[in-house]
Amino acid sequence: MKTNAFMMLIPQFIDVGISSKTGEKLKELGCTKVLVMYDKGVEAAGITEKIIDAIRHEGIEVVTSNRVEADPTDLIITEIVDFAKKEKVDGVVAIGGGSSIDAGKGVKLLLNNDESLQSFYDLSFPQKSGVPMIAIPTTSGTGSEASKGSVITDTESGSKRVVIGMGTMPDMALIDPELVLGVPPKVTAACAFDVLAHAIDAITSNMTNLITQSISYEAIRLMKNSYKKVIENGKDLEARTEMHLASNLGGIALANAKCSMSHAFAHSMGAIFHVPHDVSCAIFTPACLEFVVEECPKEIIKIADLLDVNYKDTDSTESIAKKTSETIHQMYRSVGIPDITEFVPDKQVAYEKIIPLAFKDIMVNFCPRKLDDDGAKWIIDRTYELAE
Ligand SMILES: NC(=O)c1ccc[n+]([C@@H]2O[C@H](COP(=O)([O-])OP(=O)(O)OC[C@H]3O[C@@H](n4cnc5c(N)ncnc54)[C@H](O)[C@@H]3O)[C@@H](O)[C@H]2O)c1
Ligand SMILES: [Fe+2]
Repeated sequence: MKTNAFMMLIPQFIDVGISSKTGEKLKELGCTKVLVMYDKGVEAAGITEKIIDAIRHEGIEVVTSNRVEADPTDLIITEIVDFAKKEKVDGVVAIGGGSSIDAGKGVKLLLNNDESLQSFYDLSFPQKSGVPMIAIPTTSGTGSEASKGSVITDTESGSKRVVIGMGTMPDMALIDPELVLGVPPKVTAACAFDVLAHAIDAITSNMTNLITQSISYEAIRLMKNSYKKVIENGKDLEARTEMHLASNLGGIALANAKCSMSHAFAHSMGAIFHVPHDVSCAIFTPACLEFVVEECPKEIIKIADLLDVNYKDTDSTESIAKKTSETIHQMYRSVGIPDITEFVPDKQVAYEKIIPLAFKDIMVNFCPRKLDDDGAKWIIDRTYELAE
């Protein structure tokens, strides 16, 4: 375990209705004309208008872009930046799920850094801070509002790249549970398993520490308590608040401890087979948890307890890890998330396509167990075994 260092870089406000304060908060940040960006799904959900009105009410000019797409590409981000530069905005508000917020981080960066987005794939490339940005999450999954990582789809290679630095950190997050009440059950379900993946990855990461662990265990407790409720009744504000908080805690944990193995495989499968991020995370969480049982035995027992895994005191840690992995598999199957076989029926194809890209993913570096060819095959084998 690393030294218990922890960075919480930005003010965050979590409250029902807090998004109505967006205008006031932008004023505090010194903004006079902002770009409000989102995707068409968020726009159709009727969320954006009220927030835009609240911003205009404070005398701040607004231009909008609904050009964000799922898994935003470098091209879309650059297009939005060109528009925002022409409009001479001095701030950005990203309203939406991880796709909108990550795209917003890219726009924030490029509005104050003249280099291409691709230059920043090299994480040592220096960044100036971006223009002020407020992140307003409308899904409970990525926790992207709490971290400076922006996951971008690189059009040329088709793979996901992460841009991180002082230029991509939102300046404020407004976490309003009212905004997630209308998220469809399918998206709600998948997002819940992104939360679980963040918490488990952050607990088992080699960057983990006492603070990130406490936060992650609480994220798991909240997720376990609310995931069925928010899927069965999306209007349950109490459960939605719990899940929105769990998502934010997951984001805070990963901002400090990083994600690890499940995200390496999830990024790879998502990029090649166009599987949504959260679904890919659900699919790889069980095997990746089992993979680190020797390195994280106590942590896995705590996770098992939080998930009410049915094990005996006499069980070996390996057996508890196996049962925990099976429990997570049952949890995601019970809410309609498909198995890997739905996307990649042939295991041989998974070996050939998913493994090479997983090895290249930055998150592999944060796994406490070194990934080798046998280990990667084992993770794929176990994921298919669970699907049988
Ligand atoms: N930066 C990070 O730390 C981090 C972590 C995990 C994932 N990610 C990235 O985030 C992206 C996925 O984000 P996501 O899972 O939040 O999905 P998303 O942002 O792609 O949104 C999923 C769908 O839900 C719709 N939607 C969003 N909010 C809604 C609402 N309130 N009501 C109705 N519909 C709504 C959107 O229009 C979209 O169709 C991926 O690109 C992934 O790589 C980033
Ligand atoms: Fe994730």
